[in-house]
Amino acid sequence: MTVDNPVCYDREGEIAVIEIDNPPVNALSAAVRQGLSEAMARFDADADARIAVLCCAGRTFIAGADISEFGKPPVPPFLPDVINAIEASEKPVVAALHGTVLGGGLEVALGAHARVAVAGTRMGLPEVTLGLLPGAGGTQRLPRAVGLEAAIDMVTSGRQIGADEALRMNLIDALADGGDPREAGIAHARELLAQGHAGRRLSDAEAPAVDPQVVESWRAKVARSSRGQVAPLRALDTIAKGLALPFAEGLALERRAFMDLMQTPERAAMIHAFFSERRAAQQDDLKGVTPREVNRIGVIGGGTMGQGIAASALSAGLDVTLVERDDAAAAKAAAGIARMQDGAVKRGKLSQADRDTMMADRFRAVTDYQALADADLVIEAVFESMDVKREVFARLGGICRPGAVLATNTSYLDVNEIAAATSRPEDVIGLHFFSPANVMRLLEIVVADRTAPDVVATAFALAKRMGKIGVRSGVCDGFIGNRMLSAYRTAADHMVLDGASPYQVDRAIAGFGFPMGPYQVGDLAGLDIGYATRQRKAATRDARERVPVFADRLAEAGRLGRKTGRGYYIYDEQSPQGRPDPELEPMLDAIRADLGITPRDFTDDEIRSRYMAAMVNEGAKILDEGIAARASDIDVVLLHGYGFPRGKGGPMHWADAQGAAAISADIARYGEEDPYFWQAAPLLTRLAQQGGRFADLGKDAK
Ligand code: 3HC
Repeated sequence: MTVDNPVCYDREGEIAVIEIDNPPVNALSAAVRQGLSEAMARFDADADARIAVLCCAGRTFIAGADISEFGKPPVPPFLPDVINAIEASEKPVVAALHGTVLGGGLEVALGAHARVAVAGTRMGLPEVTLGLLPGAGGTQRLPRAVGLEAAIDMVTSGRQIGADEALRMNLIDALADGGDPREAGIAHARELLAQGHAGRRLSDAEAPAVDPQVVESWRAKVARSSRGQVAPLRALDTIAKGLALPFAEGLALERRAFMDLMQTPERAAMIHAFFSERRAAQQDDLKGVTPREVNRIGVIGGGTMGQGIAASALSAGLDVTLVERDDAAAAKAAAGIARMQDGAVKRGKLSQADRDTMMADRFRAVTDYQALADADLVIEAVFESMDVKREVFARLGGICRPGAVLATNTSYLDVNEIAAATSRPEDVIGLHFFSPANVMRLLEIVVADRTAPDVVATAFALAKRMGKIGVRSGVCDGFIGNRMLSAYRTAADHMVLDGASPYQVDRAIAGFGFPMGPYQVGDLAGLDIGYATRQRKAATRDARERVPVFADRLAEAGRLGRKTGRGYYIYDEQSPQGRPDPELEPMLDAIRADLGITPRDFTDDEIRSRYMAAMVNEGAKILDEGIAARASDIDVVLLHGYGFPRGKGGPMHWADAQGAAAISADIARYGEEDPYFWQAAPLLTRLAQQGGRFADLGKDAK
């Protein structure tokens, strides 16, 4: 192997070993494709080699095509040709798998004549999660290996499967005893040689029969789960149509579909999301800063949030002490956490034995703060009140050992003010988890004025360890996510005041690709939360601000959403997901009449435009104020905390696709009716004037 050639060819007796070494994930860059082609040519010409093992150095077998090459002019050799050459070899090739064998990586493996995996290997075709479909034979070879429905399932969902399942499905031929893929490949190659077995070419295998009824039932299922995305349905069609054709024509059909999808805005948006998620952890000011060591964490408060945080920390291998106010509350929290871990056992994510030792050895629920004396990091998840939080932090400052990180899970309170309650504000940071915290991947890392850099670094390291995506935010009311939510929710409320039905708003927003509209979300979260916030802010509210009187009326009538069976919708046995309430419209009409508003109609498009304009405008303010360092961080927050459709990449990516000028013009028009709410962010105006993009600002410009 030379510096330019990441593919190495050597021999162990009659066995050629072709090893790819292209860190970090052995992606199939142009250099790897070139190196693989050359290695295959060498193997074919090597008279002393009877069989080849294809394996990878480092943490994983090939994890896919090189995504950073997408959107740029393609460079030969092309992957389908490289894989065809592997398959066409007259001597067998064994793919030896480890790590995450994804996308083009699995397609390479399917082009080999036999596959062996070490334990723990995961396999999948995640292309649909990037707005694509497998473009190097996956839609045609996979069904020939595992059957029609298993292939449709894997390709249209992007789901990863483990090595045991892969063996049962015939996706691999053998599961190795040891953990070294090179050794496993060589051992399997020796067996094949001894048996005189040459493996098999999937292109020669008979295609499974395509039953139109089966395809139709999958189409309905995929249409439901993919919520408007084009790639999953195109993938389904490509499998079904391709299998009816000779293999080479099926491949050509697949390639055309892949190239078509490569041109879609959805593909650009999803790849933007992929890189934005990884970029969020990159913090220039933390280079060279060593995070503090965290092994033991404390959680204060055992409500839903505290339980979710504790469960998530336990799953990450941390030792957890949870503090509640009395024994009954501590027992209740412990039971809740145990239930969450039982769920993980049922889903096959955790073994019963690991669950039992985790709960016995690494978890305790207590009532005495003193138990936190040797914690490395404490997260407070108590009632959302400044007085309560300040009291907790004042106590923690005295109890926790020097150097322990003190974190608050507040979702909007001023972290500077909380930090000021301790004698050690440099140790204080906001860690805003999203509910349910053991499921949701977003973590807003709220950096206060005096937070020490190594505390920020510790928060990012903890996020990674817990499998979360940490996004940095400055201090402001609601931080990045809830501040954006408040803006677009307000825009929705104004439309309802002016005549739109909440049900129409929800439908229009679902039509954009959100899983739920704002009123369905409100019912789920509980209408008392917004009500309490409005009460808190009432005294300082600007007289020009329009109040959603209807939301107050619902809360005052005890209609708090799902938990009371009634909010904007009615929830009962007949409609557990909620159905419109016939009493709502008359109530809204009466309120509009009281306020002297003549209701008007809104089209779904107008609802979406206003909602999105409010979201983007607030995002621009958040960027301008430095609360978020880059537009892509805002996108990650909305994608992972608020259900923003991944196929649109996040609000700031979406805004770039529309153009700042168009959104700015909308805001100017809306501002003629309500100049107080619709104040254009100076940054948005600047971009509109200059034809600029959020993606090119500051750190995103790199
Ligand atoms: N291409 C280019 N870079 C990639 C990459 C890829 N396929 N996969 C990962 N990377 C980069 C990441 O951007 C990251 O870079 P950074 O360190 O500069 O931020 C680095 O590799 C490590 O990645 P992660 O931080 O994600 O590491 P993890 O260990 O958490 O996860 C992984 C590893 C499971 C492989 C995950 O990175 C992943 O899911 N990658 C994408 C896999 C994928 O989608 N493959 C299909 C590609 S499309 C395709 O193959 C088309 C084909 O059909 C023709």
